[in-house]
Amino acid sequence: MTDLKITFADSRPDDADTIVFIVNKESLDSYAFPIAEADNLRDTAKMARFKGDAGQSFLLIVREGGKMRRIILLGVGDGGLDHQRAGAKALAKVQTSGATHIAIEGPDLNAVKGCEAAYGALLRNWRIDKYHTKMAETSKPTVKEITVVGAGPDAQAQWASYAARADGVFLTRELVSEPANIIYPETFVERCQHLKDLGVEITVLDEKQMEKLGMGALLGVAQGSVRPARMLVMRWDGTNGAQKRPVALVGKGVTFDTGGISIKPAAGMEDMKWDMGGAGAVAGAMKAIAGRKAKAHVVGVCGLVENMPDANAQRPGDVVTSMSGQTIEVINTDAEGRLVLCDALHWTQKEYNPEYIVDLATLTGAILVALAHEYAGLFANDDGLADKLTKAGEAVGDELWRMPMGSAYDKMIDSPIADMKNVGSRWGGSTTAAQFLKRFIQKDVKWAHLDIAGMAWGDKAGPLWAKGATGYGVALLDRFIADNFED
Ligand code: BES
Ligand code: MN
Ligand code: ZN
Repeated sequence: MTDLKITFADSRPDDADTIVFIVNKESLDSYAFPIAEADNLRDTAKMARFKGDAGQSFLLIVREGGKMRRIILLGVGDGGLDHQRAGAKALAKVQTSGATHIAIEGPDLNAVKGCEAAYGALLRNWRIDKYHTKMAETSKPTVKEITVVGAGPDAQAQWASYAARADGVFLTRELVSEPANIIYPETFVERCQHLKDLGVEITVLDEKQMEKLGMGALLGVAQGSVRPARMLVMRWDGTNGAQKRPVALVGKGVTFDTGGISIKPAAGMEDMKWDMGGAGAVAGAMKAIAGRKAKAHVVGVCGLVENMPDANAQRPGDVVTSMSGQTIEVINTDAEGRLVLCDALHWTQKEYNPEYIVDLATLTGAILVALAHEYAGLFANDDGLADKLTKAGEAVGDELWRMPMGSAYDKMIDSPIADMKNVGSRWGGSTTAAQFLKRFIQKDVKWAHLDIAGMAWGDKAGPLWAKGATGYGVALLDRFIADNFED
């Protein structure tokens, strides 16, 4: 939650109590030092070894014309991402300091760099404080407004799509952060209903409908929970029907993953409230895409279930029949995400005939072993799609790393009693999970699977987020749509 106001102006607002100078090695001397008018800024910055290198920062409180002000110097390179991170860093430095109005200035600011800096600050200010009833005044965020100064006449107009993207990220973070007694399949759906106001068509399948469709894999996971499963469908068509085959985004939405009968150990199990990070990213991306009225046809599908142990829960060894007709031996009830996704993927292809389908899921612990918290794993049946996603990810800072697939891995999930089993051997766990999903993708469909288990949540603050939900995937998907499906 953040109620930060972003404005643009030609000159510094009088009531700004914090001035941020975005500089580089060259502009530090010629621009920031003279303009700041703070006598000791040059010397103190020098003492702190601030040289304007990308990523460097320096904060000084000065008296200027009888007024006290915070001055922050931020070093950047040339890229937009640098500016995002600079804006975020400035905000983080003064978030709870009593500062209320930040002015962002710099010699090289243009519309894009100015928007990127404001976007970074806005994203970094978000936190979930609603369950703290006794927070000290000095711990509460104080910044109310950010004014970008001198970014040119186009900045304000360009800001609209940044604001839409930020709103999408915030929805994702909210869904991911909320505990599982608050967000479960039905309430996840409720929290997305407001996308209708943006022109998104919303359809919800309940358990009866899913049963009729034969979604035995998804419903098998849900059967141990008193929370009924849902399939949430959000469709945005910004092409007036011109783009016949939509891009489909499909998310794993396990609102809590205990492991089921193959129950997880107690330590750290609370983290499994964010096992709906894929579905959260899909909902947030739909909000961003519709919010900026993207000229593309996109459908977002979230398979929503809770995975609980129970007298009625499915057992290891059970055989379930998926909507595709393929049967699955459930060896481990903790490998539930693929069981949810396989029915969601099959249904989405049947219903919408998408040309591209991208699924996002906090699917395996193994992807953390391979990539830690640096990249999400990318699996794809099409090199072109893999490239498009990788490029979009690089551009926005949601990084992807391509992982291998192949028939040798596929054999590892053959079952003696059914068409496949839901786990492979100990090794290559992220790839065997991807091979499982691939068995539900039609031949003519370009498909990618993003294993975001290491990215949805941060144990410590990152460049654009406080500790907690990152909103990973929203910017990536928004950019992927913008770069490839709108012209
Ligand atoms: N939701 C988990 C994956 C996960 C683990 C996400 C750790 C984030 C952090 C998934 O449902 C799961 O339990 N996967 C198992 C699969 C195994 C049983 C084949 C895993 O990764 O251990
Ligand atoms: Mn699991
Ligand atoms: Zn899971």
